[in-house]
Amino acid sequence: MLNNKTILITGGTGSFGKCFTKYVLTHYEPKKIIIYSRDEFKQFIMQNDFKEYGDKLRFFIGDVRDKERLQRAFEGVDYVIHAAAMKQVPACEYNPNEAIKTNIHGAQNIIDAALDSGVKKVVALSTDKAVNPVNLYGGTKLVSDKLFIAANAYAGHKDISFSIVRYGNVAGSRGSVIPFFQNIINKGGKELPITDYRMTRFWISLQQGVELVIKALEEAKGGETFISKIPSFKITDLAQAMMPGCEMPEVGIREGEKLHEIMVTVEDSFTTYEYDKHFIVYPQMVWSKDKTPTPTGKKVPEGFSYSSGNNTEWLTVEQIKELLKDVDLEK
Ligand SMILES: NC(=O)c1ccc[n+]([C@@H]2O[C@H](COP(=O)([O-])OP(=O)(O)OC[C@H]3O[C@@H](n4cnc5c(N)ncnc54)[C@H](OP(=O)(O)O)[C@@H]3O)[C@@H](O)[C@H]2O)c1
Repeated sequence: MLNNKTILITGGTGSFGKCFTKYVLTHYEPKKIIIYSRDEFKQFIMQNDFKEYGDKLRFFIGDVRDKERLQRAFEGVDYVIHAAAMKQVPACEYNPNEAIKTNIHGAQNIIDAALDSGVKKVVALSTDKAVNPVNLYGGTKLVSDKLFIAANAYAGHKDISFSIVRYGNVAGSRGSVIPFFQNIINKGGKELPITDYRMTRFWISLQQGVELVIKALEEAKGGETFISKIPSFKITDLAQAMMPGCEMPEVGIREGEKLHEIMVTVEDSFTTYEYDKHFIVYPQMVWSKDKTPTPTGKKVPEGFSYSSGNNTEWLTVEQIKELLKDVDLEK
């Protein structure tokens, strides 16, 4: 379905964008992939790294805050993947209006520009932090998710759908626990601090995130939130996998930190369906009968929730050690 299509990725020079671009160029025959982002240097580096793909790859300097620029960039585009965001929790806390401009106004600009052009599908990236948010980053992503779901209502008879892919911290991503522990190990530290011994997380690789976005592009009718079924791990097990036998002092939970990553809440359970490898949370509002997605999976029981703490699939220390071999630490 991606063959001969023009795909635009906002935030295409980021971790997700580069992995998605590589995956699509090696598995499909797209007509063109357009990278939309602000920093010319990151685009220059990416252009060099992807030289072999020639003019299949195009680069557009632009800000998601700039609707006119987005409108120009979306000309002739079939699918938009919206990955651009301010995503560092402290940066969003200290610069709240900047986070609102990029993550919320930017989302609305994407929607407006997509509605005004011939775009057929928009998939926006969400995060577990948008679920019961405790910080501004999560709050802005929650609003962004709501905007994309509601956008299906103003699409009218236009052939366009908006949907969401939600996942948690990618293993090895900047600011996450693996690079934090690795940094201590590199400096010769002898113990790994644990904020709370009960702490758990999901394990997802960038490629799994990319594959879920492609699934959403293939299957979304509009308004769905796609969530991968992935294993959980205890932070204490991660510490033992990275430094076997180490001391693990408990240092206390940090402000805005959650004990578990939550993907599906009890409130979502009324419209959540289970599939082989993922869940889909369907929209609670209905905009038009012919465009509302029809679930084909198994409805989860009322009261169901899906978090890294109540998962049925858990990684052992040995399994974590194996997975760590393939983790690229973001610089
Ligand atoms: N990484 C994770 O663990 C994780 C987990 C769950 C969800 N997500 C979500 O996945 C998405 C992608 O994350 P990522 O890890 O790939 O992020 P990233 O590596 O920080 O990349 C962000 C990208 O967005 C661009 N960007 C930032 N502000 C922009 C703006 N105002 N206008 C246009 N482009 C802008 C950046 O390039 P310029 O600075 O050059 O503009 C860069 O290309 C985000 O929506 C994030 O919330 C990430």
